[in-house]
Amino acid sequence: MSTSEFIDLPELLSARGTISLPGSKSISNRVLLLAALAGGSTEIHGLLESDDTARMREALCSLGVKITPLGGGVWCVKGVGGAFPVTQAELFLGNAGTAFRSLTAVLAVSGGDYRLSGVPRMHERPIGDLVDALRQLGADIDYTGEAGYPPLHIRPATIRPSGELSTLRIRGDISSQFLTGLLMALPLTGVETSIEVAGELISRPYIEITLSMMARFGVRVERDGWRRFTVPAASVYRSPGVIRVEGDASSASYFLALGAIGGGPLRVEGVGEDSVQGDVRFAGALAQMGARILTGPDWIEASAPEGGKLRGIELDCKDIPDAAMTLATAALFAEGPTTLKRIASWRRKETDRIAAMTAELRKFGATVEEGEDTLRIVPPSVLASPAQGVDTYDDHRLAMSFSLAACGVPVRINDPACVSKTFPEYFARFAEVTQTVPVIAIDGPSASGKGTIAARVAAELGWHYLDSGALYRLSALAAQRAGVSWDDEAGVARIAAELDVQFGENSIRLAGEEVGDAIRYEDISAGASRIAALPAVRKALLFRQRQFRRAPGLVADGRDMASVVFPDARTKIFLTASVEIRAQRRYKQLIEKGIAASIAPLLLDLRERDLRDSQRGVAPLQLSEEAHLLDTTNLTIAQTVARVLVWNEVVRQ
Ligand code: DC
Repeated sequence: MSTSEFIDLPELLSARGTISLPGSKSISNRVLLLAALAGGSTEIHGLLESDDTARMREALCSLGVKITPLGGGVWCVKGVGGAFPVTQAELFLGNAGTAFRSLTAVLAVSGGDYRLSGVPRMHERPIGDLVDALRQLGADIDYTGEAGYPPLHIRPATIRPSGELSTLRIRGDISSQFLTGLLMALPLTGVETSIEVAGELISRPYIEITLSMMARFGVRVERDGWRRFTVPAASVYRSPGVIRVEGDASSASYFLALGAIGGGPLRVEGVGEDSVQGDVRFAGALAQMGARILTGPDWIEASAPEGGKLRGIELDCKDIPDAAMTLATAALFAEGPTTLKRIASWRRKETDRIAAMTAELRKFGATVEEGEDTLRIVPPSVLASPAQGVDTYDDHRLAMSFSLAACGVPVRINDPACVSKTFPEYFARFAEVTQTVPVIAIDGPSASGKGTIAARVAAELGWHYLDSGALYRLSALAAQRAGVSWDDEAGVARIAAELDVQFGENSIRLAGEEVGDAIRYEDISAGASRIAALPAVRKALLFRQRQFRRAPGLVADGRDMASVVFPDARTKIFLTASVEIRAQRRYKQLIEKGIAASIAPLLLDLRERDLRDSQRGVAPLQLSEEAHLLDTTNLTIAQTVARVLVWNEVVRQ
């Protein structure tokens, strides 16, 4: 479940480094279940610790299996040797498809009374074909909600009493997890059983993982291509003693794509040429897009193409359904369209991934054609940065896929904690291998000269400039024009969120009208200071300010640039001057603009505003420990600019 509403990813300058991958979800959940069913104890190294594996561990513990953490990603599972000690249990499996499908099959032949349920989305994901196949074996399973979907009630039943060879049938084109579940359950019946796959089997590499893990636990499945699988009589799971879980190949896809778009080289450790996971083929798809790929036995490395830019491809994705989502967002950075084909299974995953991907890609300006089982993505010539952020539909892969968009624009990802399903540490690891657009944050009181200094520093460096105070001033002006009181927090926040503003060189337009001077009048200054104390207004303007952080760099001035808006700014400066000098500077500025003014009220007003800006409850103006204090009372503009540039240069080196 989520803890924070969003994460804002700054635009990236490059991506490179090395990532040690978390364990594979698919392997972790299979190994947990097989170790639980096996005779003997199993020490599992590199087990993934995430929501989906936690659901499997909890379920197995409820069934009487002893699972102990030994520290450092190592777990010990004491196998029950076939039958679970607990014969009556209610299991909640969240949205963990791997856990739900395989436990359904195993428990259906276990002779107990079990109830299995999950989150509402899990109850929308079909399971009827698996239940039908298990019923062929004699299993007693009821749907307690809608027929064909979880939740399920499994009752004790006599499983295939006669010893004759039987053949079960299962559809292969809905989810490969049905076949995986059946295969893992059949050794518990003790008699030879065959499974015939009807229709084309999708996601075949996942069946390879299942067969390979069963073999590690002593059960060899005979097979006739992808049509027929036979579990021999007297197959019994035996612990291999120690087993090591490979890194997650689907999780690897995000970092490989980052390397391919962001320059690289970006190396993932934990999967490579020797992997049993189908998603390592994702690297091949990236290579088709032009990325440079190097591989070793347990690592893969991706770098950008020679020419720098990826090219769009057309690809049958039925064998890499999960990693294919990463291709959809990588397509934003390709030349020409990308078409992903045979992705029908996306519609039955954590969310309808085809619909969700379409909606979110469009927010970036892409032209997307959504087919029943295809997606065609034409990247925009200029990537947009969606103001309201990317929605993630409680789908970890949407969140991780869209982090790639930060290679082109600042991105807000809503509900980022959904990544905990398979990769709780994702955004922390992402930060380790990405280099963000640098920021010089200049904070200080009114009329301290921040604006002048910041604009000149930006011009010197060829960077962008953000006058954050102007956004508060614009919000105050827009509220005044709309007849919304400056005390109406919700009203002003709504106006701030929807500000239609264009910044140009020496011009600021509000709804098309030039307001560069209008926002400098003293009544608007006072209004800006008032609305700036309203938390909802600050929140509404937060991402809008962060969207100014574009390559090659940003100089931002305000009150909370270093503390709140850009806490990771490369250089932080607190600019100040005596209040008398500031009053004189403001006076000169107003007179030059042809606005009538006199010193005494300006002085009074500055003192009042200083107090309000520094004592308000949210984001008050404060000198932070990391900031360089720069008192400009006795400095010229040129001297001040020079000082800032030197500090920035020192940090860079
Ligand atoms: O820097 P300025 O005078 O243009 O700012 C106008 C008002 O907005 C000022 O009273 C403080 C407020 N402000 C703020 O609270 N946070 C910022 N980052 C910038 C300005």
